[in-house]
Amino acid sequence: MTSNYGQKLWEMDRQHHLHPWTHWDSFKKDGALVLDRGNGSYLYDCDNKKYFDAVGGLWCTNIGLGREEMAEAIADQVRKMAYASAFTDITNGPAAELATKVAQLAPGSLNHVMFTTGGSTAIDSAFRLIQYYQNCRGKHQKKQIISRVASYHGSTYAAMSIAGKKADRVPEFDYIQGLIHHISAPNYYRAEPGLSEADFLAQLVKELEDKILEVGPDNVAAFFAEPVMGAGGVIVPPKGYHKATMEICRRHDVLYVSDEVVTAFGRLGHWFASKDVFDLQPDIITSAKGISSGYLPLGAMIYSDEIHEVISAENPDRVYTSGYTYSAHPVCCAAALKNIEIMEREDILGHVREVGPYFESQLKTLLDLPVVGDVRGTMFMLCVEMVADKETKKLFPDSLNVGKQVANACDDMGLIVRPLVHLNVLSPPLIMTKEEVDFVVSTLRKGIEQVTKGL
Ligand SMILES: Cc1ncc(COP(=O)(O)O)c(C=O)c1O
Repeated sequence: MTSNYGQKLWEMDRQHHLHPWTHWDSFKKDGALVLDRGNGSYLYDCDNKKYFDAVGGLWCTNIGLGREEMAEAIADQVRKMAYASAFTDITNGPAAELATKVAQLAPGSLNHVMFTTGGSTAIDSAFRLIQYYQNCRGKHQKKQIISRVASYHGSTYAAMSIAGKKADRVPEFDYIQGLIHHISAPNYYRAEPGLSEADFLAQLVKELEDKILEVGPDNVAAFFAEPVMGAGGVIVPPKGYHKATMEICRRHDVLYVSDEVVTAFGRLGHWFASKDVFDLQPDIITSAKGISSGYLPLGAMIYSDEIHEVISAENPDRVYTSGYTYSAHPVCCAAALKNIEIMEREDILGHVREVGPYFESQLKTLLDLPVVGDVRGTMFMLCVEMVADKETKKLFPDSLNVGKQVANACDDMGLIVRPLVHLNVLSPPLIMTKEEVDFVVSTLRKGIEQVTKGL
């Protein structure tokens, strides 16, 4: 950061801004990269250095930045009515239209939408809805939650407790105790050597059923799962996992919450991945990010007719005391409506289905590098895992922070990739072209080669 303006911002930020996931030691020394503007899939820092953003902000800038139409839709709604509460018996046009649109796009009987401020609050709202639902049914004991090791569900107290990423469970924070049970991540790359994928699948499904039986079907309320694990390392479960786990849940009257905060709104080439990609009909879907392509904060918790019938059954004393000042914010909803309109008009889902397999096959070419152990994921949600030994899959020591080293090398070459200890994650804007795929893959290759020399 060399410009005076950039330097000043860097210092102000370092002094006063508490960042999500701050690593104190390096932040005190290095501060943060100050980004200044964005256009399409590109970001620019204060020195006007251009970067291709292969992280898509944080899995969210789906239609790309800087769209005039989005700015207009947002400005129009600000002029018309910048805010309206959605509490109790007030609504607004964009909220009513967006709820209807989302209900149409969501699979099966998921016809009811609660708007939130993002993904964590969508998870928190699902957690509270589940408790409310079980109490309305008179099943006061049925409150236990099952989720998975390596899952990420957000950063409210409930969301972080449901999540199972070990690296996020730092000893300085507390987590809900005695309510949440974590079963194995469906990561075949890290499965027992020699185990077939079919046997691995059977093992995972059995583990879920065993856990339900151990905790007691009368006590287990819900299973939370991302269709493809994101922040936990872009893990695509073995084929058949989603359907098989759903059937186990159905058998034991356990609600299935599909956390589509990353996967919904196009990342896997469909509005929602649950049904269209994985043949899974959940009871609740949580979404955020791509719903507004990151232009404004918004999340949605979408739930079934069956749940709705129970919670809204005639009862003069019943009130649903959950929601936020910014639930159904009219400007955020207007932005989401425009975002969906653009995605439909430009057939962005079709584009993902066309470019996604190319991205996947090109990224897989990195497997010839001696430190690339695995390239996995699907469509516009991929990652590269680096290992010290390909045969044994042994990792580099965490202290080497190899993913961060690669990300830094790529930064210098104008490419932003997300480091996650020994991984680099890629979740680019959904408008990425095949030429841009070539740039991403060749730059990442150079970055990995450069870092490997110094290891
Ligand atoms: C699967 C999943 N769920 C929930 C969240 C939390 O969303 P937010 O950061 O918008 O609160 C995230 C964020 O990355 C996510 O990946």
